[in-house]
Amino acid sequence: MKKLLFPDYQTISESAADWIFKRVAEKPELTICLATGSTPTGTYEALAARAKGNERLFAKCRVLKLDEWGGIPENHPASCQYYIQKYFLDPLSIPKSQFISFKADAADPEKECKRVKEQIAELSPIDLAVLGLGLNGHLGFNEPASALTPYAHIAELSIETQKHQMVEGLNVKPAFGYTMGMAELLQVRKIIMLVSGEHKREQQEKLLHGKADPQFPASFLCLHPDVDLYTDLP
Ligand code: GLP
Repeated sequence: MKKLLFPDYQTISESAADWIFKRVAEKPELTICLATGSTPTGTYEALAARAKGNERLFAKCRVLKLDEWGGIPENHPASCQYYIQKYFLDPLSIPKSQFISFKADAADPEKECKRVKEQIAELSPIDLAVLGLGLNGHLGFNEPASALTPYAHIAELSIETQKHQMVEGLNVKPAFGYTMGMAELLQVRKIIMLVSGEHKREQQEKLLHGKADPQFPASFLCLHPDVDLYTDLP
């Protein structure tokens, strides 16, 4: 993992957006897997600013949603769907037909995972993933466990994950989530991991520890040959 140290969140966001913008200019049909949450928002906003007047550049990108809260209405403001639509698909004019995602309110969650797993297999290798680091070390919704799951699956969410700010306004917290699996993530060609703020210091140390620990799923990124960590934590 290559650690790239920046002075603050703004600079992380600008630099990650610069990298992604250049990559799309080189390969307009890029397949990108996206995390949601508070960390990547600045990057997506900076990317949208760069794309203003140049939206056609992104018209051929295919976007894959990393994860989703289970059981909430698809277009609920707390959903990852809503977030990606707002911060990525709309500002970059990416047609919905090029968006691959778990349906938050799918009637049959197992069947939904199978459908997305097949779509991921068709798209593979995915060119780029923009990821965030969960407070408990989760990657997408690959939660700490004695063993991790390779492909798209339903994940039982920990109490800590249910406290995430995206769902803080919900009276009933999602008990499960949908997520890409660890093998699917490790097969992505290039990973940009975004980490910002003192509250992630301990987590970053575990991330950089260099051992794959299923109790801290993000540490599995040490097995990947091309991860850039954008951080403001020395
Ligand atoms: C949530 C999201 C993940 C995200 C993680 C970190 O669980 N589902 O995709 O990477 O939290 O979030 P944050 O950036 O808000 O700390």
